[in-house]
Amino acid sequence: MTVLLYITTMAVRKILTIPDPRLYEISEKVTEFGRPLRPLIRDMFDTMYAADGVGLAAIQIGVKKRILVLDLTHFGFVKGVFINPEVVEQSKEMQEGDEGCLSVPGLSVPLKRPKYVKVKYQDLNGSERIIEGEMLLARALLHEMDHLDGKVFVDLLEPAIKREVAEDIERIKQGLMPQKERIPEYRKEVSKARA
Ligand code: NI
Repeated sequence: MTVLLYITTMAVRKILTIPDPRLYEISEKVTEFGRPLRPLIRDMFDTMYAADGVGLAAIQIGVKKRILVLDLTHFGFVKGVFINPEVVEQSKEMQEGDEGCLSVPGLSVPLKRPKYVKVKYQDLNGSERIIEGEMLLARALLHEMDHLDGKVFVDLLEPAIKREVAEDIERIKQGLMPQKERIPEYRKEVSKARA
């Protein structure tokens, strides 16, 4: 007699939200590559997709490793895993745009970022690679890399904007939604793409 067992490999993990202290910790460099990393990477993608995100850092699911995943294919950019990423070059020219974060649910606010960035990183097998990106790709890379250094985007806002959304941030820290939910355009786009 044959018994067939179907196991689902989908694992959506809980996303930490502010002010969880782990979000302010500096993640550790990854030294072991390959197969042992695969379950974590899979969970990161599953968790990101389930939340309609376009990027996720490992620390957002409580894993203190310098790993981030992105899926910007809907916008004509890459999907990938970036391990131990470091900025090697960035433009002085800045881009304007709204930014949101799965760890700060319901809030989207303008944040200036360099328009272009060049990042060196390691892939799943530990090989060194380079990625260059502009606009949303640059923004996403920098946003997720901030997470690896314990920085959440709402702490980087210009003072005037920070004051404007201070009440909403307080609400989010208490586990509530902002008065008026604001979702960045790119996340709305992703939702539409999945509908
Ligand atoms: Ni984030």
